[in-house]
Amino acid sequence: MKFYSVQVEERKELGGYTLLRYRWNDGPVEPGQFVMARAAGYPVTLDPFLARPFSFYDYDGEVAGLLFEVRGRGTALLDLAPTIQVTAPLGRGFAIEADLGRAALLGGGVGVAPLKVLGRRLDELGVPYDVFLGFADAGSAVVAREFAGAEVATMDGSVGTHGTVLDAVVGTLQDYPAVYSCGPNPMLAAVKLAAGEQSLCQLSVEERMGCGNGSCNGCVVPMRGGGYVRSCVEGPVFRAEVLAW
Ligand SMILES: Cc1cc2nc3c(=O)[nH]c(=O)nc-3n(C[C@H](O)[C@H](O)[C@H](O)COP(=O)(O)OP(=O)(O)OC[C@H]3O[C@@H](n4cnc5c(N)ncnc54)[C@H](O)[C@@H]3O)c2cc1C
Ligand code: FES
Repeated sequence: MKFYSVQVEERKELGGYTLLRYRWNDGPVEPGQFVMARAAGYPVTLDPFLARPFSFYDYDGEVAGLLFEVRGRGTALLDLAPTIQVTAPLGRGFAIEADLGRAALLGGGVGVAPLKVLGRRLDELGVPYDVFLGFADAGSAVVAREFAGAEVATMDGSVGTHGTVLDAVVGTLQDYPAVYSCGPNPMLAAVKLAAGEQSLCQLSVEERMGCGNGSCNGCVVPMRGGGYVRSCVEGPVFRAEVLAW
């Protein structure tokens, strides 16, 4: 897999997350696609050995943005490096059904990341939509300011509705013919249940990834009816009914 060395043009804190921007003009970015990224140093330091997957948070045709939470070694190094290595956009993103009507966009924690690019694309297509965001606490909910008009819920009740992202939904999710969501798997399973069988529900899964190009099988998710599918090449966005959970 080809990696490009890029300078970090901007890095800022958004509550509990980091927003990092770099120049990217080597191909389009589709909503829901991801990039494998690591701090520059490889192959001299081999630290980290494997790049990590991140959704595109933002892209204006010139500058790409990643929004991430420091969890371990890979993200800690990414949080400091002046130069990083990134791949071209990877995976299958959200398939936008422009004719269906109003869409609901739901993000949990740092799973809000792909919703900004998605919202921009829906704006371009003239598709109306509502955004619902769920966070653990006020610190992580700071990023909600980047999503004008979003309904917010926090698990500790410090900002917005007290509860999960589904508690932030005004009315019922079944009122929306199209539902797009990204977050931890238990949240996605709850969104799938709440959306029901009538809506077109698409879920972006956050499985751990080794290679990002389909060759290690480290990122598989179970399918309804048996078998597994690789989230790096067949996903990371799947139609809800395809998934076992
Ligand atoms: C398609 C895709 C898009 C993603 N987009 C983003 C994004 O936009 N922003 C962001 O912050 N993160 C995103 N992630 C998750 C991100 O890849 C991990 O947080 C990152 O790999 C952690 O690397 P690390 O070296 O810092 O942590 P590690 O040292 O590898 O792990 C530290 C801790 O984090 C946990 N962890 C690591 N990876 C994951 C994961 N995928 N899901 C749940 N827990 C995990 C580990 O179990 C461990 O407890 C995405 C993942 C995928 C598959
Ligand atoms: S991460 Fe290796 S097959 Fe998907």
